Amino acid sequence: MQALSGIEGATYEVLPSHHSDPFRDQVVRAYEDSAGDWQKVLGEQLHFQWGVFGHPDAPRAVSLDEAGLSYLERQLAIATQDGAGDTTLRRVLDVGCGWGATLRHLAHVFPDCPRVDGMNVSAEQLAHCADLVRDVPRPDRVHLYLCDAADIAELPDPEQPYDLVVARGVITHLPPRVYETAVEALARRMRPGSLLLVSETLYSEDFLAHEPGLPADTDHLALGHRKSLRYLTDVLREGGFRIRDDRVLPSPEDAARWVLELKSNIDVHFPETAHPPLEAIRRMASDLAVALLQRRVSVHSILAERAPV
Ligand SMILES: C[S@@+](CC[C@H](N)C(=O)[O-])C[C@H]1O[C@@H](n2cnc3c(N)ncnc32)[C@H](O)[C@@H]1O
Repeated sequence: MQALSGIEGATYEVLPSHHSDPFRDQVVRAYEDSAGDWQKVLGEQLHFQWGVFGHPDAPRAVSLDEAGLSYLERQLAIATQDGAGDTTLRRVLDVGCGWGATLRHLAHVFPDCPRVDGMNVSAEQLAHCADLVRDVPRPDRVHLYLCDAADIAELPDPEQPYDLVVARGVITHLPPRVYETAVEALARRMRPGSLLLVSETLYSEDFLAHEPGLPADTDHLALGHRKSLRYLTDVLREGGFRIRDDRVLPSPEDAARWVLELKSNIDVHFPETAHPPLEAIRRMASDLAVALLQRRVSVHSILAERAPV
């Protein structure tokens, strides 16, 4: 294991990977541009997994930062209601932790949890994340890993199982084989009764029949491995998870608004040209908003429980 400095003093660890994967390189490229550019598009906090805006008659406009946080809070409320996850959290994991907004929130809302892990394939994002989590209570609880979802088995300290795992927006980026390997490995690393909280963009069978994927040379956001709800949940069940809750969240209207706000920010800040992943958002936003409103694409919040072995 090799320790790397991110931004002065803040570190993450590089875990070994046992395979090469051109698609992983595509993901890494999608997130290599400056966080500052992404902030112009996503908001200061850099939540990058949809948003809940609330009622259209809300007294004032809700920002992307607020909407992103509100969606995360809604999901955590689902996970903690009705006794689900009724346990003291000793170790949590954020798979595909982005620039760290979710991880930082978890470290704040679970101040007594002694270990908060985040993993990502993007070194650029992890460096930002390492800096971001400096202000959480007892930041030494936070451990960051440069690690592919395919290599979850490599995460240190296997004798200490996870009580809660969050995977928001990451399964979208995984080739099916990597997703299946990750679920198998997660099941082995999670305590029976522990919870896996997923947010994912999923495609109707009809959509997939017509547009199953994207050509690699235009897939600058690495979204080519589209998945259906049935596939995603079948893999979870086969991997030893029980689905406790599945709902469309955010609503199609909120999801459409979110992606159109991203496009609007790109048009304002990068009117001529933007980096390829931002151009990809600009190009797909309108069609995606329509597909969301037509229910051909939906964003799901899924809560799965690691079944007893
Ligand atoms: C859409 S972003 C969501 C980020 C964050 N979870 C959030 O809610 O803001 C997807 C994240 O998954 C990460 N990711 C994609 N493929 C991955 C893989 N194979 N292993 C680990 N992380 C991956 C990306 O680098 C990115 O940080």
